[in-house]
Amino acid sequence: MEVQLTAPNGVKWTQPLGLFINNEFVESSNGQKLTTTNPTTEEDICSVYSATTSDVDKAVAAARAAFRHSSWKRLPGTDRGRLLSALADLVEAHTETLATIETLDNGKPLSLSRSWDVPEFVGVLRYYAGWADKIHGQTIPVGPDKLAYTVRAPRGVCAQIIPWNYSLAMAGWKLGPALAAGNTVVLKPAEQTPLSALYVARLAAEAGFPPGVVNVLNGRGAEAGAALAAHADVDKLAFTGSTATGREVMRLAAGTLKDLTLETGGKSPLLVFPDADLDQAARWAHEGVMSNQGQICTATSRLLVHASVHDAFVARFRALVRDVSVVGDPFDRATYQGPQITRAQLDRIVAYVDSAREQGAVVAMGGAPTYPSSVSSSSRGFFVQPTVITGVRPHMRVFREEIFGPCVAVTPFENEEEAVGLANDSVYGLAAAVFTRDLARAHRVAAELDAGMVWVNSSNDSDYRVPFGGVKQSGIGRELGEAGLEAYTTVKAVHVNLTSN
Ligand code: NAI
Ligand code: MG
Repeated sequence: MEVQLTAPNGVKWTQPLGLFINNEFVESSNGQKLTTTNPTTEEDICSVYSATTSDVDKAVAAARAAFRHSSWKRLPGTDRGRLLSALADLVEAHTETLATIETLDNGKPLSLSRSWDVPEFVGVLRYYAGWADKIHGQTIPVGPDKLAYTVRAPRGVCAQIIPWNYSLAMAGWKLGPALAAGNTVVLKPAEQTPLSALYVARLAAEAGFPPGVVNVLNGRGAEAGAALAAHADVDKLAFTGSTATGREVMRLAAGTLKDLTLETGGKSPLLVFPDADLDQAARWAHEGVMSNQGQICTATSRLLVHASVHDAFVARFRALVRDVSVVGDPFDRATYQGPQITRAQLDRIVAYVDSAREQGAVVAMGGAPTYPSSVSSSSRGFFVQPTVITGVRPHMRVFREEIFGPCVAVTPFENEEEAVGLANDSVYGLAAAVFTRDLARAHRVAAELDAGMVWVNSSNDSDYRVPFGGVKQSGIGRELGEAGLEAYTTVKAVHVNLTSN
């Protein structure tokens, strides 16, 4: 149930392949597997067991039993925190292996996996380890005859469905608060990136989590994901992924009125006012849509630029794409942009570029697949050129729809009112960025934007101490920070009669 793997950087490890239920790796009930691909070479990496609905039943039953078992139920919060810290320490100690797995499976640059994805998992777990013994209720004065108090109780069995763009970090965002609050978990990674979560599962057992507290099931969305979303014995569902799948998951969860948090798509605007520091704005705008191959839910993928600085800003942005966006082998130190996750995602990006051309926009840079020389010639890989589209108007698909690639749409505006109107002309409301040196304007515009998060003179800041999430069709509920715990606790009220009446 495991295989020895060696990555191009020479890192070797034993990769678990099973379904992780009750602290053991097991085969799927009918032996079915799914194969994961290296997007840099288009070669298969390995096949992992893929859960059937009966495997989902088994994992949920294990999580339910663990939730009731005294080894978890009666464990003080301080000790839950210790377990989370122990897992964080183990993941940190395995940084090089986990960063390598993430890069092999997802295609993101090794430098990014190492500097962001692994530390993010570790940081989130440590942050919530600290919360584990600070989750408590209130006493509420209701007069001399009664005592009323509240308890913050865990919700129970939590199903967590995560995407492929940040597979390890999203596992951390989900596991940290759920376990800190005393829940048990069935985590389903995306079928494109099944490997890092299995490696973490083994470390969770090593850290000392009792059997059944952390279960990891790889599996197909329409099979294992849907079975989890609809399952009668799942108390809470947390989902990160596309808005379309979020809608389907919500429909499936409706059968048992499951508590739900959704982090879905975005089309986040970045507003550049004439008084902005244009070099700073261009730097953040570049990072905000080009990093992680543009596969970021909060990507600032619509650049709204005041007409008076439009050309100067676009020139700076293009220079950064030329100088910084080195497309190549993600194991190569010089690489800024690796391959897209799949051929389907690559094709989707190119189709959006075609639609922009057809609708009258200008493809100012990029727009086509590419085959970088740093990748060996025997393989192709799902690489696309970083792409800049100008002259974009609000009716165009590239203005309205999430592309999820290194592809930006630039639209000019004339005044602040028009800028805010354009920014809010979207079904999405995940994030927004404002570039200005006018303090009053910064706060005024931040207040007007329909977004769960606003960055002033910055883009794509995310910090596990600060709530993360969207409005409109970008999601329901919040992750991270103290707000992230609310998703994993329920408030129970207790009324005590202090009289003999
Ligand atoms: P997806 O939303 O379908 O996949 C995310 C997760 O949902 C995966 O674990 C998948 O197995 C699961 N899933 C799929 N169908 C399901 C179902 N019927 N019931 C329960 N779970 C299900 O995303 P996909 O298809 O990989 O990517 C398509 C687009 O979604 C991207 O182009 C991008 O626009 C968006 N996306 C957004 C993400 C974000 O962070 N907001 C992350 C990944 C994709
Ligand atoms: Mg893969």
